[in-house]
This record gives sequence, structure tokens and C-alpha cells, in this order.
Amino acid sequence: LLTALGLLGCGATGEPSQGATGSDSGPTDTAEPGVGAPGIGDPDFPLDGNGGYDVAHYALRIGYAPARRRLDGEATIQARATQALSRFNLDLHGFRVSGVSVDGAAATFSRDGDELSVTPAEPLARGAEFAVKVAYSGTPRPVRGSSNLGTYGFIPTADGAFVTAEPNGAKTWFPGNDHPADKATFDFEITVPAGVTALANGELVSRTPAPGGGTTFTWREAHPMVTYLATATMGRFTLREGRTAGGIRNLAAVDPRFSAALGELYSRSGEITDHWVTVFGPYPFSSTGGVVDDFAAGYALENQTKPMYGGFEPGESIIAHELAHQWFGNSLSIERWEDLWLNEGFATYAEWLWSEHTGGDTAAQRFKTAHARPANDPIWSYPPGDARPDDLFNESIYTRGAMTLHALRREIGDRTFFTLLKTWAAEHRHGSVTTEQFTALAERLSGKRLDPLFDAWLFQPRRPSA
Ligand code: ARG
Ligand code: ZN
Repeated sequence: LLTALGLLGCGATGEPSQGATGSDSGPTDTAEPGVGAPGIGDPDFPLDGNGGYDVAHYALRIGYAPARRRLDGEATIQARATQALSRFNLDLHGFRVSGVSVDGAAATFSRDGDELSVTPAEPLARGAEFAVKVAYSGTPRPVRGSSNLGTYGFIPTADGAFVTAEPNGAKTWFPGNDHPADKATFDFEITVPAGVTALANGELVSRTPAPGGGTTFTWREAHPMVTYLATATMGRFTLREGRTAGGIRNLAAVDPRFSAALGELYSRSGEITDHWVTVFGPYPFSSTGGVVDDFAAGYALENQTKPMYGGFEPGESIIAHELAHQWFGNSLSIERWEDLWLNEGFATYAEWLWSEHTGGDTAAQRFKTAHARPANDPIWSYPPGDARPDDLFNESIYTRGAMTLHALRREIGDRTFFTLLKTWAAEHRHGSVTTEQFTALAERLSGKRLDPLFDAWLFQPRRPSA
């Protein structure tokens, strides 16, 4: 969630990709070994992700020295070719690449902007599983100030790093297929100086003294995850660990500057996670919690299992928002950025539901207040069903997205609406989703024709009638 909205500059740049090569749309069996497209086929972010393969697993070995801002990385990426490949790309921003191998054999490679092109010694057959290993090092450079995105990616801090990468900042700390349409499991092996804690997604597997000094933290995210939700946040942290009342593992971590917030972060995160289980269905991951770092990012991010709060003590509303994302955004992730309201509209509506649940304003009151915004309010001219790359986190995606859900709730009734939320989360658990899939499910469960409603709320550049 954005806590301050910046409006800066223009949007994404880059050449169009050479055709939309989604994960299942490679050439036919008879094709000659081809070249993987430099983009996964998202028209709004033409160079994000890549064509021709599908990643199953990332194993990331990272050494980081905060004092020198030096990262040494070795990424091993397990993937399957979705077309014959004589060459394919990875996304990587900065660093010096010292070596690339494919299935253990040295590969040649070249750099062009944020594209790392890899030519394996032998072409890969369509359907082949392969492992590509990349050794890289240097000073990580976060992405800065394009449109309303602020600074994101691997952000060095005084004692470590604040790592929040939405939408496409994973490439600032590891090479990969940096687009949400390609989900994978992750292993992290992170070595940091003594006294520094490294926090990544999923569960801590081990914490051991490193041979050369310092500590190696091994984390595993065993559930599919999109690249922008991966984190390796490092610094001095105070931790509290346990389980929620409902039995879900819970880990809260705060920078010492926020030590007074630790108890509240831990207990609120647990309470809210347990409540969302009753509303959205079973928790999709192995743990919940939250991290407060001392970097004033101006936003929070729903990093899988480890939401991050950038330099502020989160209140219950934003905790409710980031934890709702564990279902909507993380377990169910978007296939294309234009559908971002499926993340942000749902998480904002969850804030309204939390308020209603705790005796504050009802969702109906929140809807009414939002609808009373003047006719020239920017949310009315920005249809949230088509998020724009140059203004991705526009408030319309959040507020008008949430209003869309409330309008739907009134139209189909509470019973069907809450069944819909649970069915949506269950049917697409750990999958990729689109707006059309959601509207089709809403029509199926309600037995109503809903395109006038969705069209007015999601796609028209004007205020819908209340
Ligand atoms: N998904 C986040 C949230 O709404 C917002 C992330 C903003 N990212 C950015 N680069 N500014 O919780
Ligand atoms: Zn959000």
C-alpha cells in the first residue's frame, strides 16, 4: 500500500517484444531451435520477463556486505523450455556477470540493458528441463523514480538492505524471469556479517556460522511465488516467533528503532491472518507475520509470508491490507499488470471488511464516502480495470477497485459475494488469474449477467451511478 503518492515523470520504456511468447505459446514441434523473446508478452511491460521457458525453481546464494554494499551472487534456475531454444534471456539489472552455465556446460552470454542473453553450448529441445547457473557480483542498484513507483528492488540501508521489488525490481538482485506470469519455488542461502539477520520468504531452514565469518541463513519458500514478492531483507532485527491462535506459524521482525512496535505487529498480524482464514478460506502459505525496517520507503509491500513496512509502525488497516494480499496477489497472482485491481482492489476492500468487523465504518459507509468524491476526482477518469504502466499504483486501482467489489456485493447479495471470495481463492490457489476469470465466476455463482456492472466500474472513464 502506498502511504504517499508521488507523481513523477513518464512511464515504462523499451522496445516492443518480438511477438507475445507466453509460457504455452511457443512454436510447434517442427520449429528449428529458436530465440526466446526478450519479454514474456505483457504489452504494458514489453521487456519484463522472457519468452521460451518456464521457471520451476530458483536457488539463490547471496553474500552481502552492508559496509561495502557488495553483493556476490550465484543463482541456479531450474526451468523447462516451452519452445526449442538456441538462445534465451534472463532479466538482470546491473552487476558484473562472471560466468553462466547451462546443465553444467559453460554458456556464452551478452548484456543489453536489463537483458542477459544466454547461448547454451547445445540448443535446448522443446520441453527440455534445464538448469542455468549465473555467477554475478557488484553493488546492487535499486530502480529509482519512474512514474509513481518510487524506489524499489534491492535497496541498501545502513545495516543491510530493504528488499521490496514490485513491480519489476527482482532483477536488481537476482537474474530471472521477472514477471508475475511465471511463478516458482525458491531456496535462499544468504551470508551476512555477524549480528546481521537475513529474512527471506517461507521458513528458516538453518542458521549456521559461515566458514569465512558471519552467518548463513537458509530459507525456503516451498509454495509458488512471483519474483517481485521475493525478499532477502537484511539488518539488525528483533524477532518474535510463535503461532497464531489458529495454529499458523507467525514471525514478526522489527528494526531496533521500532522495537516498541514488535508486540503489536506480532499479535495483530496473527489475529488478522486468523480472521482472513474465516473470510477467504485456508491460509495459502506456511507462515504469516511482518517486518518493519528503518528505510522510509513510503509504502508497504506484501512480500510472500513476510509483508514489509517501510519505516513506519503499521496500523491494523494496513496490516489487514498486506495480509489479504497473501490470498489476493500472492496465492492468486496476476497474469498481466493491467489486472492489478485484482490485487489492490481486493486488499483495499479487505481494509473495509476489517473496519466493518471491528465496529468501525461499514464497507457500505466507506463506499458511500468514496462515491461522494467530486466529479473531477482523478479516480473517475482512470478506469481501474486497465492499470496503466505509467501510473500503475494510481489510487483508482485501490479505491475504485474496492468500490467495484462493493457494488458487486450489493448486486449479488452477501451470501453469494462471500461464497465468491472463497471460491475464487480456492479455485485459483497458487495460480495466475485474469479479470475475465473473475467476472465469469461471479456470473456463474450469481446466475446474473454482470457485464454492465463490471463495465461501468472497471472500464468507463466516468463516475458510475451509485
Ligand atoms: N503492493 C503494494 C501495496 O499496495 C504497493 C507497492 C508499491 N510499489 C512501489 N514500487 N511503489 O501494498
Ligand atoms: Zn496493496
